[in-house]
Amino acid sequence: MNSSGPGRGFNIANPNTGCPAGYTSRRRMSSISRSILDPPPERVDHEADSVNVLSDVGGISYGDYLRLDKVLDAQVLQSELNGRRVHDEHLFIITHQAYELWFKQLLYDIDAIRGYMENEHGVSEKKMFDIIKLLHRSIMIIKLLVDQVLILETMTPLDFMDFRDYLSAASGFQSLQFRLLENKLGLKSEHRVKYNQKNYSRVYQDLPDQLKKLELSEEEPSISTLVQKWLERTPGLDDEEFSFVKRYEEVIEKQLSDNMEKIEKEPNEAMKAHLLVSHQRRVDQFASLFDVKIHDSCVARGERRFSHKALQGALMICMYREEPRFHQPHQLLMALMDIDSLITKWRYNHVMLVQRMLGSSTFGTGGSSGYQYLRSTLSDRYKVFVDLFNMSTFLLPRDIIPRLTPDMKRILHTHAGFDKDDEEELQEDLAELAPVKE
Ligand code: HEM
Repeated sequence: MNSSGPGRGFNIANPNTGCPAGYTSRRRMSSISRSILDPPPERVDHEADSVNVLSDVGGISYGDYLRLDKVLDAQVLQSELNGRRVHDEHLFIITHQAYELWFKQLLYDIDAIRGYMENEHGVSEKKMFDIIKLLHRSIMIIKLLVDQVLILETMTPLDFMDFRDYLSAASGFQSLQFRLLENKLGLKSEHRVKYNQKNYSRVYQDLPDQLKKLELSEEEPSISTLVQKWLERTPGLDDEEFSFVKRYEEVIEKQLSDNMEKIEKEPNEAMKAHLLVSHQRRVDQFASLFDVKIHDSCVARGERRFSHKALQGALMICMYREEPRFHQPHQLLMALMDIDSLITKWRYNHVMLVQRMLGSSTFGTGGSSGYQYLRSTLSDRYKVFVDLFNMSTFLLPRDIIPRLTPDMKRILHTHAGFDKDDEEELQEDLAELAPVKE
C-alpha cells in the first residue's frame, strides 16, 4: 500500500498497531510484557502521515480565503520609505491595524445587536439570547484591546521618537471606526469634551464618504436609545395590577420618615446637624427618581442619560433579577456596564501610554494638547451607561423590596411574554420543522 495512502491513518484491522478504540490484542499484550526491559521501539506517529486530501481537489486556499496578499502587504514603514528603517515602526503599524480589525468586528456585532433590538413590539426571547451572546463577545474583544496597549509599551519613548516625525498629522484621533463605535453605543456629541466636540467631525471634512458614515452614526438609534425604549416597556413598571414605581415610593417614604424620627431623637446637636444634611441629600436623590421634572434637569446638566421611565425599568429589573423573566434582561444590563467600564479602561491605558511616550506637555500629531486632552476624556461624560452605574444608590435591602402580587409573580415567572413577534417566530420555526413534500 502506498505509505501516504488514505488507509494509513485508520488502522482498524491492523494487529500491529492495536485497536483505535484503545484496546490491545492478547498477542500484542504478551509482546509488551516480554519487551518491558528492552529499549522502546521507535515511535511511529501515523497521524503525521495523513494527507491534506482537500488541497488536491482544488478550492480556495488559506491565503486566498483570508486575502493575506492584501493584509500582509499593508505594513509600509514610513521610516523605510525615508531611507532609515526604524525597527519598532513595524510593531506600531501592526498594533494599530490589529485595533482597526477588532473595531471592525465590534461594529459588525453592534450593528447586529441594534438590528435585533430595533423592533417596535419588543425584544423576543430568541433575540435576547443572540443579543447577550454578541454583547459578551464584544466584552471579550474590548478586554483584548485593553491589554493590547501593553504590547506597544515594549517600545521605548526613544524608539518612538526615531519615527514619530514621519507620522506627520496622522493620529488615532482620525480613527473613523473608533468614532462610529462611540456613537453607535450612544455617546452624544454634546457630552464630548470641547476640543473633541469641535474637531471630531472636522477631521473628515475633506472625506465626504467618511463624514456621511459619521453623521449617520449620530442619527441612527444607538444601543443606548434602543435599550431605553426596551426598558420603558418593563412589565409591572406602572401597570394597574402592580405598579413597581408606586410601591417602591411607599417603601422609600416609610424609610425616610423612620430615619427622620431617629434623627429627631439624636441628643448631640453637631451629630444631628450632620445627619440632617445627609438625610436631605437622600430626600433630593429620591425626588429625582420620582419626579420627572427633576430627573429631566439632571439629564440637561449631563448628570443622567436615560429617560425617566427607562431608569425606573432598569431599577426594577435589578431589584427583581431573580425572577426568571428578568434573568436575561439583568445580564444585558450588566454587559452594558462591562462594555462601558472596559472602554474607560482602554482610555486610561492609552493615556498612560501617551504620557510614557510623549510626557504631559507635548502636542499630539492630531493637534490636541495630547496627554491633557486625553485625560479629560476619562470622566463620566464619556460613560454612555452612567445611569446603570449610579443606580446602586437606589437599591433596597432584600427584606424591604416591595413584594410582588401573585399575578405579577406569575408574569415574571415565565421567561418572556408571548407577543406577536414570538408568534411569528414560532410559526417560522414550525414551518422549518414541517416535513418536506417530495
Ligand atoms: C505610541 C503610541 C501612541 C501615541 C503616542 C498616541 C498618541 C495619541 C494622542 C496624542 C492623541 C490625541 C489626539 C492627537 O493626536 O492630538 C491620541 C488619540 C487617539 N489615539 Fe492614540 N496614541 C498611540 C497609540 C494608539 C493606538 C495603538 C491606538 C489604537 C487604535 C490609538 C487610538 C487613538 C484614538 C482612538 C484616539 C482618539 C481618542 C479620543 O479622542 O478620545 N492610539 N493618541
